[in-house]
Amino acid sequence: MRDEYLEPAPVSEIEQSDEAGLRPRHLAEFVGQRELKEHLTIVLEAAKRRGQPADHLLLAGPPGLGKTSMAGIVAAEMNVHLHITSGPALERAGDLAAILTKLDEGEVLFIDEIHRLSRAVEEILYPAMEDFQLDIVVGKGPAASSIRLTLPKFTLIGATTRTGMITGPLRDRFGLVARLDYYADDELQAIVLRAAGILRVTIDTDGAWEIARRSRGTPRIANRLLRRVRDYAEVRGDGTINEATAQAGLKLFGVDGRGLDKVDRAILTAMCRQFGGGPVGLTTLAISVGEQPETVEDMYEPFLIQQGMIARTPRGRIAMPSAWAHLGLAMPADTNTAASLFE
Ligand SMILES: Nc1ncnc2c1ncn2[C@@H]1O[C@H](COP(=O)(O)OP(=O)(O)OP(=O)(O)O)[C@@H](O)[C@H]1O
Ligand SMILES: [Mg+2]
Repeated sequence: MRDEYLEPAPVSEIEQSDEAGLRPRHLAEFVGQRELKEHLTIVLEAAKRRGQPADHLLLAGPPGLGKTSMAGIVAAEMNVHLHITSGPALERAGDLAAILTKLDEGEVLFIDEIHRLSRAVEEILYPAMEDFQLDIVVGKGPAASSIRLTLPKFTLIGATTRTGMITGPLRDRFGLVARLDYYADDELQAIVLRAAGILRVTIDTDGAWEIARRSRGTPRIANRLLRRVRDYAEVRGDGTINEATAQAGLKLFGVDGRGLDKVDRAILTAMCRQFGGGPVGLTTLAISVGEQPETVEDMYEPFLIQQGMIARTPRGRIAMPSAWAHLGLAMPADTNTAASLFE
């Protein structure tokens, strides 16, 4: 028995380090998002020529599309250190001030979930972004005074899954605002093949395609499905992945032909069966599938909307004909349609 089997690390930890290992490190390794890469290539090159840090960058888009990876790439391309923090971790203005004063000239500060910054923290971020100035209040009450510190010039990269929740003033201070879109199947196939190479898994192009087209347009899911299919192939097969192993493995783990998992199907089933196709409110829907409303809104709904299976209307979410069809259910004739709800 090998040592590591005696004290196994928690699975999530293993997978997290796997995820870090799979992160593309340079722009050229980053598959897809052509427009963003093109913009960044120019912005970074120009900054390097001027010998200045790159402009602040806001990355928006659903989870798992590569925002954190892109922040790492910008730092690597600029050959500087990356500091990582997140909106919820910066509770007080002092938390951000402590980080900002530790930065060196030209370094990159990455703030994940930047839409969750508190007002107080956001306000000290404005002058820091714009003029590289930090206003610190010292003391309390009538004796309090404010001192102004000059910060090194740095690049802020913000990431958010909710563009709508970024305040106007914050958004306006980013020189480049980019939206990451879901990936095309052939891009995901390239991502699966790349990850398989890193994980030393033997896979053919059809096997990679099968995993890619069921990955909900999302690289993180593609990598996760690859690991599950690899497990399946090792236990039930000879460890190599082709179309048939991929299909059988994905079926075993509950991923259906369109890449929907158990929760996706539970959402659609609740909408059609319990709520007659809707409209149904987000909270009600989330409770009925046992998830948090934010999880449904950030992780599940965007893809189902993109696939045209559900729609958001002023009165709530409704199931579209393709949702009924996907579940093999007949759509009742009197179901609310998107058009009728917008009237
Ligand atoms: N364009 C890409 N090319 C290759 N691999 C990618 C790409 N984008 C993402 N990945 C892979 O997907 C995984 C998730 O990416 P990342 O953590 O950067 O996403 P994220 O947008 O920051 O997600 P979250 O919003 O959940 O923080 C990474 O480990 C990486 O392996
Ligand atoms: Mg991230």
